[in-house]
Amino acid sequence: MATIAPGQELTSQQREELGRELQSEGIVIRTFDLWKTYIMGDQEIHAVSGVDIVIRRGEYVAIMGPSGSGKSTLMNLIGCLDTPTKGLYYLNGKLASDMEDDELARIRNKEIGFVFQTFNLLARASALHNVELPLIYAGMPTEERIERAKQALTAVDLTSRMYHKPNELSGGQRQRVAIARALVNHPSILLADEPTGALDTATGKEIMGLFERLHSEGNTIVLVTHEPDIAAHAHRVIHIRDGKVERDEAVPESDRVSFR
Ligand SMILES: Nc1ncnc2c1ncn2[C@@H]1O[C@H](COP(=O)(O)OP(=O)(O)OP(=O)(O)O)[C@@H](O)[C@H]1O
Ligand SMILES: [Mg+2]
Repeated sequence: MATIAPGQELTSQQREELGRELQSEGIVIRTFDLWKTYIMGDQEIHAVSGVDIVIRRGEYVAIMGPSGSGKSTLMNLIGCLDTPTKGLYYLNGKLASDMEDDELARIRNKEIGFVFQTFNLLARASALHNVELPLIYAGMPTEERIERAKQALTAVDLTSRMYHKPNELSGGQRQRVAIARALVNHPSILLADEPTGALDTATGKEIMGLFERLHSEGNTIVLVTHEPDIAAHAHRVIHIRDGKVERDEAVPESDRVSFR
């Protein structure tokens, strides 16, 4: 497997070579000794401290850990919303940790679909328009855009609610609009930070059932949760504590929870 020996410094050619190897091995996410350090006065906070993770195409991974352990910080790094203080991050073979803001925004738009705890939908726009937005940013022509947005809404079973605004939808339907928006660009990876955190138990189950289906259709999913019940849907759980990977374990099929 493509890797780096401890203490090895790579030339730019070796870095590119490593990216190609990772991609050929089907590895969508690879971090090498990743750090995010915040300076607060004279204090250094290592929110992420030396994380090495490997996530392959088609995996379904849950990230768990106590409050303040660095889950959101790690997700923001993986999602190219933030840059690491130290270390390498390859997204789909490209070295994201080396990118400037505009390049990072471009790769984020192309490769990443985000789902947030509080949906983050435009209140005054229809479901269809909310889902269209990433395609407007990507510069896609109107007709194609509407077609793609409708497909994404159909994929989350919301064909009949396309013209509803967020306040005319239930919580689960709102989250499904947000998931359609995350999928509309056909991203390499779907990232969700506490996607059921704002939902009641029954609606949370409905959303987890949808993630399961999206995974079975070939999507790569990484979700953050602090609920063991939710993590039990994933096929692998990465436990984070104090900014470090504490445990990384496969969930045996017999232990998996399914709502499908
Ligand atoms: N912008 C920032 N500046 C300084 N410290 C920060 C900043 N963002 C996060 N931190 C600190 O980094 C650590 C990790 O925060 P993070 O938000 O990643 O935790 P989390 O695991 O997502 O927690 P939760 O489960 O509560 O959402 C915390 O100790 C937090 O106080
Ligand atoms: Mg968090």
